[in-house]
Amino acid sequence: MPEKEVEKTIDALLQERRTFEPPKEFTEQANASDPAIYEEAERDPEGWWESQAERLDWFERWDTVLEQDPPWHKWFVGGKLNASYNCLDRHLESHGDRVAYHWVGEPGETRDVSYRELHEEVSRLANALKDLGVAKGDRVAIYMPMIPELPAAMLACARIGAPHSVVFGGFSAESLRDRINDAECKVLITADGGYRKGNVVPLKDNADEALESTESIEKVVVVQRTDEDVNMVEGRDVVYSEIVQAASADCPAEPMDAEDILYILYTSGTTGKPKGIVHTTGGYLTGVASTHHYIFDIKPESDVYWCAADIGWVTGHSYIVYGPLVNGCTSILYEGAPDHPDKDRWWSIIEDHRATILYTAPTAIRSCMKWGVDYPQKHDLSSLRVLGSVGEPINPEAWIWYQEFIGGGKTPVVDTWWQTETGQIVISALPGLTTLKPGSATKPFPGSFADVVDESGEPVGPGGGGYLVLKRPVPAMFRTIFNDADRYVETYFERFGNDVYFPGDGAKLDDDGYYWLLGRVDDVMNIAGHRISTYEVESALVDHPDVAEAAVVGRVDPKEGETIVAFCTVKSGVEGDDDLMQELRGHVAKVIGKLARPHSIIFTDDLPKTRSGKIMRRLLRDVATGQELGDVSTLQNAPILDAIKAKASSQAADDE
Ligand code: WT7
Repeated sequence: MPEKEVEKTIDALLQERRTFEPPKEFTEQANASDPAIYEEAERDPEGWWESQAERLDWFERWDTVLEQDPPWHKWFVGGKLNASYNCLDRHLESHGDRVAYHWVGEPGETRDVSYRELHEEVSRLANALKDLGVAKGDRVAIYMPMIPELPAAMLACARIGAPHSVVFGGFSAESLRDRINDAECKVLITADGGYRKGNVVPLKDNADEALESTESIEKVVVVQRTDEDVNMVEGRDVVYSEIVQAASADCPAEPMDAEDILYILYTSGTTGKPKGIVHTTGGYLTGVASTHHYIFDIKPESDVYWCAADIGWVTGHSYIVYGPLVNGCTSILYEGAPDHPDKDRWWSIIEDHRATILYTAPTAIRSCMKWGVDYPQKHDLSSLRVLGSVGEPINPEAWIWYQEFIGGGKTPVVDTWWQTETGQIVISALPGLTTLKPGSATKPFPGSFADVVDESGEPVGPGGGGYLVLKRPVPAMFRTIFNDADRYVETYFERFGNDVYFPGDGAKLDDDGYYWLLGRVDDVMNIAGHRISTYEVESALVDHPDVAEAAVVGRVDPKEGETIVAFCTVKSGVEGDDDLMQELRGHVAKVIGKLARPHSIIFTDDLPKTRSGKIMRRLLRDVATGQELGDVSTLQNAPILDAIKAKASSQAADDE
């Protein structure tokens, strides 16, 4: 982020100066109520994480807590366990009838799934997958709506030691195809469709399109969710309910090495090729179980916890599936949109289920703010006792609104910083201990070691701004990029040395040592809490026959979040008008998915370039954010900037 943008963001953040002590009644009952936990973990991080690994059931205990050969690290070496066993089997005896998921379908149907029922479904599906030829180590792609069969599919893979690769249901056929091919998945589990804003998302049609060029896929399992007519390919496609019914319910969980792969999850980097983030088993489960327990203050017997993310993102993997199930708690799983059939859908779900914890993203909170307080105020939200935020910096105004109108002015709000790569929350308040400052993710979780450093890697100290780094791995931290160890080292460990992890975020430390996250410092945008690279969107735009060149930047507004602005030059004879803008937005949706559609597209005769022909995105970012232009001395075609500026200001951004 350019210096002046950083300053602007910090100014906006610091306008809100109120702080919030943890309520005494909360601290008295909190899972973390003694500040000594921070000191203990700091003194002996390995001892601390070892104590957290005790939360799991191990078939064989580990020999070594942490083995390091930076940037390679292994946790709980020699230990054996199974993720599905930890999420299901071990709960059966004492609380098998507890609800694992209160599922709510978008059209209105509901279904409660107990731990016992989920265990049976997972065991049957695991056997069915074996019958389809899936063996330990084979990769399985999952492309599904938010229905109970989605966590069941993940756990069935985990049960037999087949790494899953979940692809978000909002991604296009092309995105699905690329991810399947990168991991060479053998089987795809999908559904006929899912519901979103009253429409059917045609998942099977997309899957069929993707499967035209995925050689590794042998079988496709299709859940009948919408009962729409879909094409079933003889010999390749099977119906989920049929194979599950036919399979035996007895499927012992495969003992996995602590360092065996649990899953791969793709995320955007600075090139067009998404990175397959690799998570393993023992450390990952330890990290998510521990953070989920302390940060959300989980009381499994009484809480009704709701993480309103999609399982297709890491938030859903760690805090809808693995963390909550390992901890044996009851969650809400909701299929659809927050404004369907009306803008109070979330609040009515909270009221109906007496939800006690809500975890969502600032972008959703800001939408709710725009819709107005009447919607939450129609409902009794008094059951809520902890609120969480994740995905992007939360502006203090949204934080205060969230606490006031959703939390009734009393609940702690925990802003949690982490990434697909870290697997678990790394910087966050503990709700019974931390004095909250709206807009700050506060402090590293016990056993996590962060800092803010300058260009040369020197700590900036209190009051300084720079790059966020992690000085030690947390157990859930990824181990590599699938099939691309070089990229793992280059992207994350070259900048500050191979024992310092560089997440790609800017941050500021205040005088109390609180962390204020300032957004990405690379060419990765954070759109509604999801990571998209400028390069991916540019590639999708130039893929359209009318576009000659494209440059994409993120426009950051502390109150609005980040939106995508594209600058395009068109081929001769083509007119860059409104129709083309709509067509290009549709094209990007087709190539990547709707979430990557530019908010606005500015057509221009040329793009600002250096003498060597490199597009200067930095200047375009200045134009998009309406800032004074930075240094233009290296520009080969300076006058074009005036023309672009004039166009940008005459063209109002549009969106639905
Ligand atoms: C990027 C990671 C972690 C699950 C969702 C996103 C940004 C995430 C925060 C926060 C400020 C945040 C960072 C990070 N981010 N949480 N609480 N405050 N920024 O996962 O897609 O891997 O994106 O999201 O920029 O690097 P992701």
